[in-house]
Amino acid sequence: MAPSILRASEAQPQDPSAGRRLSTLVRHLLPSSPRRTSAAEAETSAPTTLESSPTMASQVSSVFAGIAQAPEDPILGVTVAYNKDPNPAKINLGVGAYRTEEGKPLVLNVVRRAEQLLINDPSRVKEYLPIVGLAEFNKLSAKLIFGADSPAIKENRVVTVQCLSGTGSLRVGGEFLARHYHERTICIPATTWGNHPKVFGLAGLTVRSYRYYDPATRGLDFKGLVEDLSSAPVGSIVLLHACAHNPTGVDPTIDQWEQIRQLMRSKSMLPFFDSAYQGFASGSLDKDAESVRMFVADGGELLMAQSYAKNMGLYGERVGALSVVCGSADVAVRVESQLKLVIRPMYSSPPLHGPSIVATILKDSEMYNEWTVELKAMADRIISMRQQLFDALKSRGTPGDWSHILKQIGMFTFTGLSSEQVAFMRQEYHIYMTSDGRISMAGLSTKTVPILADAIHAAVTQLK
Ligand SMILES: Cc1ncc(COP(=O)(O)O)c(C=O)c1O
Repeated sequence: MAPSILRASEAQPQDPSAGRRLSTLVRHLLPSSPRRTSAAEAETSAPTTLESSPTMASQVSSVFAGIAQAPEDPILGVTVAYNKDPNPAKINLGVGAYRTEEGKPLVLNVVRRAEQLLINDPSRVKEYLPIVGLAEFNKLSAKLIFGADSPAIKENRVVTVQCLSGTGSLRVGGEFLARHYHERTICIPATTWGNHPKVFGLAGLTVRSYRYYDPATRGLDFKGLVEDLSSAPVGSIVLLHACAHNPTGVDPTIDQWEQIRQLMRSKSMLPFFDSAYQGFASGSLDKDAESVRMFVADGGELLMAQSYAKNMGLYGERVGALSVVCGSADVAVRVESQLKLVIRPMYSSPPLHGPSIVATILKDSEMYNEWTVELKAMADRIISMRQQLFDALKSRGTPGDWSHILKQIGMFTFTGLSSEQVAFMRQEYHIYMTSDGRISMAGLSTKTVPILADAIHAAVTQLK
């Protein structure tokens, strides 16, 4: 295509105000262009020209013309497909977000109240937060997960930095470890949340997996887990889901946690806990933190990534925290200084609104109590969906043992449906879930359970 020269006079649109805007733009873009002082001068001056630059649209179709189409994210892509489906009866069980009985997203009442308090406070400004985020939020987050009387907190051995929700906390932790920890291998469960291997791989760690889920029992492969951790390199980082393992809903028992702890400590392994569902699994914040607190109680070191997406319903506000429990207060100070060096070139400093909501709630005992009631109501609704789905399949005589629906914990049920059965249910029933057969129990309601049960029944009886 021939290079084009845009003459300002040719480019004048018919609309005179648009013309004025264009002239102003030209003056800003070309500081050396003549300043017109009079109409007569304007008549006689030469037309302004804009030489095209090599990246202008008229020159080439795109400098990215050769780029390949990337696949949709396996989890978020389910919602993309769901949104495109015009069928009004469609059901989305792919998204890991809580929905009410009416299928609507929920903003907690206590969150609305906290936001109102923040808005009504005229002293609040929009200045940047420090690199490590809101100090009050960090302190309260550590207390929430480790317990108010955690010795590690009292001994100033915990450093907490505010991060961009759970994902950001994992990424900052991963990059910190890749720079400063002697063993770059991170062992993650097979299977796990699909983003884990990508987050840690891109952070610079070598990702390997340990056996976790047993498809035969639809429960924990504890023997496999112990064997794989035993043969992993000494000092390996081990990713552990604090509770409500995603996607399987299978958690170790307290006794099994204790054995895992002993094994890991005996091999000097570094636990990296991912806590995306505290309070969401059992309805109790303390119970869902038991596994983590066992590891802190032995005085050893660990990393903890916390998310407020699910338990406070702050998904899009991106509120989370990374804590490092260190061997001494002195080490904690130095670890914090290095975390700052990871964060500063990544996003400089975190956002202000979300952590302000969390801090407002956590520091006020009355609001905190209201939160726990709302949190328990969400957890209980999910638990009741498990019972309803189990009963619905039983009453249909659907082949198979569906007791895992009741046994699994948290937001998801790992149904055991094959990818063909999942595709069939999408095609025939407009029910959407991830291809591994994971369904979000939080996306179900009393109205949709029978539809899902019919679809599962058809899938398992027609596609064996
Ligand atoms: C196990 C696990 N970790 C971390 C996350 C990250 O969530 P977010 O970044 O939204 O806090 C999720 C979200 O689904 C998750 O399931």
